[in-house]
Amino acid sequence: MNQLIDALFTQGYYVWDDFLTPDKVAELRDCIPEDWKKARIGRNDEVAREATIRSDKIQWLKPNMGEPVAEFLDKMEQIRLEANRHFFLGLFEYEAHFAKYEKGDFYQKHLDCFQGNENRRLTTVFYMNEEWSEEDAGELVVYDLDDNELAKLPPKSGRLFVFFSEMFPHEVLPTNSERFSIAGWFRVNGVKDNQLDIAH
Ligand code: OGA
Ligand code: MN
Repeated sequence: MNQLIDALFTQGYYVWDDFLTPDKVAELRDCIPEDWKKARIGRNDEVAREATIRSDKIQWLKPNMGEPVAEFLDKMEQIRLEANRHFFLGLFEYEAHFAKYEKGDFYQKHLDCFQGNENRRLTTVFYMNEEWSEEDAGELVVYDLDDNELAKLPPKSGRLFVFFSEMFPHEVLPTNSERFSIAGWFRVNGVKDNQLDIAH
């Protein structure tokens, strides 16, 4: 946890390898329900336009999906508390989805705090893919706001990537193998249309 906080201070992101043991990752994968939905950008965008931007399928995490999911969410809660303690971010809640990228699926370069999701401050991406090799592709490529490439991360099992949502555009390169991740966001509270925005 200290390394995470230090790295967020100094570079704004952190790659946390072996965040979970292979056993725990397998348990978490077993919790993924079957009914995948086409992922949507923002909250109100049209499906057709979105298909050109991202082609993965998602499932929102709920604690009642099983103990491993509840444990994962508990760990994210620890990160939320530490991040608030050190950065005074006022992170209020965490939302996360499983994502499945099948062969050829991708997610074009984007920031996570786009229209409808302005309240996202800190992003987490967790990977659940055993024995990922270079031919499998599907790397997460991370850029700074001047479009310099900072990192190219294979979606290695057990790896947690954490970064400030507003600082790092990123993309998922087309994958050659089925690719599972959990993308999540710590959000601050916002006011929208005169209503407190606490809905998912
Ligand atoms: C996202 C995202 C990255 C990944 O869902 O916003 O950038 O590697 N996911 O799954
Ligand atoms: Mn993203």
